[in-house]
Amino acid sequence: MTIRVKKIINKKNKSKIVCLTAYSKSVAKIIDNFCDIILVGDSMANVLYGLENTHTITLNNIIQHSQSVKKGIKKSLLVVDMPKDTYSTLKKAIKNSKLIIKKTGCDAVKLESNNKNFKIIKKLVEKKIPVMGHIGYTPQFKKKFKIEGSTPSTEKKLLKEALLIQKAGAFSLVLECISPKAAKIITSKLKIPTIGIGSSAHCDGQILVTDDMLGLSGFYPKFVKKYVNLNRVIEKAVKKYTREVKLNKFPAKNNFLYGTKYK
Ligand code: KIV
Repeated sequence: MTIRVKKIINKKNKSKIVCLTAYSKSVAKIIDNFCDIILVGDSMANVLYGLENTHTITLNNIIQHSQSVKKGIKKSLLVVDMPKDTYSTLKKAIKNSKLIIKKTGCDAVKLESNNKNFKIIKKLVEKKIPVMGHIGYTPQFKKKFKIEGSTPSTEKKLLKEALLIQKAGAFSLVLECISPKAAKIITSKLKIPTIGIGSSAHCDGQILVTDDMLGLSGFYPKFVKKYVNLNRVIEKAVKKYTREVKLNKFPAKNNFLYGTKYK
C-alpha cells in the first residue's frame, strides 16, 4: 500500500474525507486545493457525453479524461473508475487496471461491487493496485435507482458485502444511496473509510459529482446540494458577450492584438 493511500485510511475517525469528481484539468486544478480524493467517475457518461447510462463509456474515454485531470492535480489522491465490463473477469481486470495506472499515473482504481467480484478486488490488491469499492446503488449493475439497506435483511446483506470488500483489501468504500442507519452501521463496523453519496453524514467522507454541486448538470436529486448556479452565471456572461458583439462593443481597443507579442 502506498503512503498516499495510507494517509486516506488514517483519516478514519479523525477528519472527514472530502471527495469530488473531475473530468478535466481545469476543474481538477481548482478543486485539488480542497479535496483529499479526486475521482474520474464514469458519471462522465451522463454528465459530459449526454448518454442514458454509464454502460458505454470506454476505457479510452476514461484514460483520456484521467490524463487531463492528472495534469491539474498536485496533492489529491487520484482515483479512476473502471468502466463496465473492463473488470468482468480476473484477466480483464488485471490487464485493464494496469493499463489505467500506466497511462494515467493515478493512485487507485474504483470498482463497483456486484456482490460477487471480491476475488477480483483481492487479486488486484495482491498485484499492488489500490482499490476503492462501491456498494449500494451501483449504476453499472442496477437498472432502477432505489435507496438500499432500509430493511433489516438488506441492511445485513450490505454489511456482509462491505466486510467482504474490506477483507479483499479495498482501501475505502463508496456507499451510494444507502439508508442512514445502514450507512452508520457499515461505517462503524469497517476499519477502512466509507465515502457517502446520498448516504447521510454518518460516513467518513462525502463525494458529489462536481457538475451537480455547481449547478451545471441539471441533475439535482435531494442528496445533491447546489452550492452555486453556474448555469445562471454562464448564461449571464454569454448574454453580455452576445450584446457586445452585436453592438460592436467587443472587441474593444484593449482586446486588439496589434502590437502584442505571442509567446
Ligand atoms: O461515477 C461517479 O462519479 C461515481 C460517484 C458518484 C461515486 O461513481
